[in-house]
Amino acid sequence: MSALTFHLADADATADLGALLGRSLPAGSVIFLTGNLGSGKTTLVQGLGRELGITDAIASPTFTLINEYLEGRLPLYHLDLYRLDPAEVQALNLESYWEGQEQPLGIVAIEWAERLAIRPDAYLEIHLTMTANGQRQAEIAAIGKAANWLEAIATSKT
Ligand SMILES: Nc1ncnc2c1ncn2[C@@H]1O[C@H](COP(=O)(O)OP(=O)(O)O)[C@@H](O)[C@H]1O
Ligand SMILES: [Mg+2]
Repeated sequence: MSALTFHLADADATADLGALLGRSLPAGSVIFLTGNLGSGKTTLVQGLGRELGITDAIASPTFTLINEYLEGRLPLYHLDLYRLDPAEVQALNLESYWEGQEQPLGIVAIEWAERLAIRPDAYLEIHLTMTANGQRQAEIAAIGKAANWLEAIATSKT
């Protein structure tokens, strides 16, 4: 298996997909979120955070770039690279979030991840698109050695 597709009928369904990720993924997982403005990237991360037991409100990090939530079952690092160009992204040294040496490993969710200069060896890419009726579709692909993460999602889906 190298990809999964989900039809998301409303915002709750998008958040529920995030929750499914939160249930399935281990510390050290990296999720690239791609798709247009308004496609549901932040909504998905809100569901993920809820599942991890984070009670702080998860807001869009468009202006803060990085929000760290440390109160849940695993740390959640929520990044949004929308306002940066690749050179600025490189200067941020974001590898530290998935290498786990400077801070505890958690789940790293990155909006506008296509701007990353240095990518992890393994990650899930979730591409969100709006469908003609105003709903959303998510396609999840495993990149590098992330196939086992995709398996875990498929297994806890039911
Ligand atoms: N499956 C869906 N169907 C309809 N609306 C959705 C769906 N998922 C999310 N939304 C709505 O889309 C809007 C933008 O979502 P947001 O998560 O902020 O997008 P992004 O972070 O990609 O810019 C929100 O109002 C959200 O409730
Ligand atoms: Mg967003």
